[in-house]
Amino acid sequence: MKDLTPEKSDLDAIETASRDEIRVLQLDRLKWSLRHAYENIDMYRDRFDAAGVHPDDLTDLPDLAKFPFTEKSDLRDHYPFGMFAVPNEKIIRIHASSGTTGKPTVVGYTKHDIDVWADLVARSLRASGVRPGDLVHCAYGYGLFTGGLGAHYGIERLGARVVPMGGGQTEKQITLIEDFKPKAIMVTPSYMLNILEAYRDAGLDPRASSLEVGIFGAEPWTDAMREEIEQAFDMHAVDIYGLSEVMGPGVANECVETKDGLHVWEDHFYPEIIDPETGTVLPDGSEGELVFTSLTKEGMPMVRYRTRDLTRLLPGTARSMRRIEKITGRSDDMIILRGVNVFPTQIEEQVLAIDALAPYFQIELVKIGRMDAMRVYAEVLSNAATEEARSVAADSLRQRIKDIVGVSTEVAVGAPGTVERSQGKARRLIDNR
Ligand code: DLL
Repeated sequence: MKDLTPEKSDLDAIETASRDEIRVLQLDRLKWSLRHAYENIDMYRDRFDAAGVHPDDLTDLPDLAKFPFTEKSDLRDHYPFGMFAVPNEKIIRIHASSGTTGKPTVVGYTKHDIDVWADLVARSLRASGVRPGDLVHCAYGYGLFTGGLGAHYGIERLGARVVPMGGGQTEKQITLIEDFKPKAIMVTPSYMLNILEAYRDAGLDPRASSLEVGIFGAEPWTDAMREEIEQAFDMHAVDIYGLSEVMGPGVANECVETKDGLHVWEDHFYPEIIDPETGTVLPDGSEGELVFTSLTKEGMPMVRYRTRDLTRLLPGTARSMRRIEKITGRSDDMIILRGVNVFPTQIEEQVLAIDALAPYFQIELVKIGRMDAMRVYAEVLSNAATEEARSVAADSLRQRIKDIVGVSTEVAVGAPGTVERSQGKARRLIDNR
């Protein structure tokens, strides 16, 4: 793999500023943001008043803990435009999450917000090893999902060249990658595995592709998956994080030279880690739920938004800004099986540890009598695998999950192609209880 470390002189000054400089900027911007939310959004004014806090009560960053949280349900309750802080005619872009139940959650951006977003995705791409002039294949979905358009604007902002492929049409993805020879790809990690399979099915060598780096996000993925993709394509696999409510892709990104967690672009977002049960702010280094307050957003400022994502805040390394550890899962994907907490990423690690298995899996929860039970569906890599080889692989997966994750599961290992393939965000869990 090529060394893609950016030149220090190409970075934004704030990426290597001192912690004090970052804090001064954050405090200044946080004061503005709280006031902007309070003065322009009824929900924030009512909430702050009810909690007996006023934006003037923030004199230092830790004072933020006095302010109330915002949750996804607040966006639903103020559907569609009740969370906007500017007149509707100033909102030049709307995105929305599909939402499995009820109304989608709607987010809006002013021209300035779109500009900041493009800058931050450009910064994320540079951290990933992309340079002006490079060709980037964008396979995140375009449309209401923030992935495609968010990535697209950032690629253009960096001065790189974009192929706006979008999700799906896997064979066409391969044709375009082979013919246009992009240096970078932006896609969900689970869909990248689908592309990998199509590569092999077409008799092509993925290691010979032009790709030097993949920028993967929108769903949890493990270091074991990183290893799998890096080996398969002989390219770097870098993590990008974000969420619509806070902006979209590019809230945090890994640096290609370290791949040690994602630097939060703290000049625009203030992160906290809280205990998800009590809401107490935890010291850096503790594991808990990630909470964000936007520092510069005009259209839809967010105060202490509870992401449900579980991680830790760590000190900066390749950049001064703090990192989040690779996200292990969301509190709402956590399966509690006979008292043991299990995340789909833990199952992913075990599937990837078995050579005979392909990197695809799905988890089903069922009721057996009054007990919850978990079934893991995986598949063998080789068409030539016998029934017996499948059963050996199933046994070893069951054993590893029991020994390492600590739960008993049923495991079914099928022939190649039996597990559902991802077209974007993978559906890891099917709850049939
Ligand atoms: O998934 C934005 C995005 C697009 C990020 C493309 C990266 C790349 P939402 O659809 O609102 O936005 O979903 C946000 O996805 O709260 C996490 O649970 C999960 N997620 C996003 N990135 C990562 C990541 C986009 N790198 C939700 N690792 C978030 C783990 C991620 N989970």
